[in-house]
Amino acid sequence: MAFKVPRGTQDILPEQTPKWQKVESVLRELSRVYRYKEIRTPIFEQTELFQRGVGDTTDIVQKEMYTFEDRGGRSLTLRPEGTAAAVRAYVEHKMFGYPDQPVKLSYMGPMFRYERQQAGRYRQFVQYGVEAIGSADPAIDAEVISLAMDIYQTVGLKDLKLVINSLGDKETRDAHRTALIKHFEPSIGEFCSDCQNRLEKNPLRILDCKKDHEHPLMKTAPALTDYLTESSAEYFSQVKNYLDVLGIQYEVDPNLVRGLDYYNHTAFEIMSTAKGFGAITTLCGGGRYNGLVEDIGGPDVPGIGFALSIERLLLALEAEGVELEVEDALDIYVVAMGEEAKLKSAELISSFRTKGIAADMDYVDRKMKAQMKSADRLGAKFVIVIGESELEENAVNVKEMETGNQEKVEFHNLVNYLLEHK
Ligand code: HAM
Repeated sequence: MAFKVPRGTQDILPEQTPKWQKVESVLRELSRVYRYKEIRTPIFEQTELFQRGVGDTTDIVQKEMYTFEDRGGRSLTLRPEGTAAAVRAYVEHKMFGYPDQPVKLSYMGPMFRYERQQAGRYRQFVQYGVEAIGSADPAIDAEVISLAMDIYQTVGLKDLKLVINSLGDKETRDAHRTALIKHFEPSIGEFCSDCQNRLEKNPLRILDCKKDHEHPLMKTAPALTDYLTESSAEYFSQVKNYLDVLGIQYEVDPNLVRGLDYYNHTAFEIMSTAKGFGAITTLCGGGRYNGLVEDIGGPDVPGIGFALSIERLLLALEAEGVELEVEDALDIYVVAMGEEAKLKSAELISSFRTKGIAADMDYVDRKMKAQMKSADRLGAKFVIVIGESELEENAVNVKEMETGNQEKVEFHNLVNYLLEHK
């Protein structure tokens, strides 16, 4: 039997990890600059956290969770997203009592959703996300959005579209809900059984149904924006003012509702507009979730955040033909001729490595020519060949591969030479 990686998951091979590490380092660096401190929560949580946090009527909770019972009979779920867990930790550790508010958190790690596999959609994927909890200031909405845009621009993406919307406050959504029920009820028999269930429980979810999205009633459905209360509309216009000041371009899309239940007020997504990007163009999604902290057992504290997957970011880079500058340099390859030379090589590369010089040598007894080829393939900056005469002279020619230049250096000066020239 040939074992295979489970459907919807992938191995990240050694030739691919430098790209991942590069993206991760950009994410860490921007978290530092924007001051979103990293939080690490478990990969699994009590199932109820997501039912309550993400929402019972969402696709994620109804169809996509990896839920299992542990040996103690508890229902646990592999996290499908990071917000509910971050908020759970915020409440559990009473971060609302921290002297500096809002509490700004970031996280990076695998998430799990049982989704149909296609380009850009995996069952295990790595999300980076941030949450700013404890502020209802439109300036922080703009900060969170600008961090997301900054990430994509820093890695070199250009074909981007930022779409924003306001989902309003509770009053807005109640009025919209009534209008939606009125709109869909007479023809609800024409919709899928999920939508029929959603009609009473959460008619907003009908709007992002993957099966019925072509139904003509979808296009004529009442838009949330028409029901925005005055204060919600005012909040939204302030968010837009801040985005304008930051020079961030956006489109307002009244149909952007997001697929998780905790959102209100600001909602946003960043899409790739690159030709050749697959059917799924959303790179990143987020929004405000005033009320979630309270739902999860904390005080009435507002919050906002976003998440993106590294997989889709890499796909966007590929679609735009952007090559990341990755750090995978081999500073020196040591070619050894004969047993004694090999001993010397081992000693030398050990002294290089303790000084942070990336060094390698042959371990499969290859001829000199094959070793030289290897050095070339590995992209070594310098090569030295140690044989009998070098051992006698205690010195070796250091060859710079790119230029072909050679310089004779005594063994005991090699470390300094390489530190100066690498
Ligand atoms: P989401 O829209 O469900 O929101 O996911 C955010 C991002 O995660 C997506 O835009 C996409 O890049 C990535 N993603 C989601 N599902 C998959 C998948 N199956 N394969 C690959 N990538 C995927 C959330 O998760 C919210 N927690 C975001 C948030 C944080 N809102 C406020 N704070």
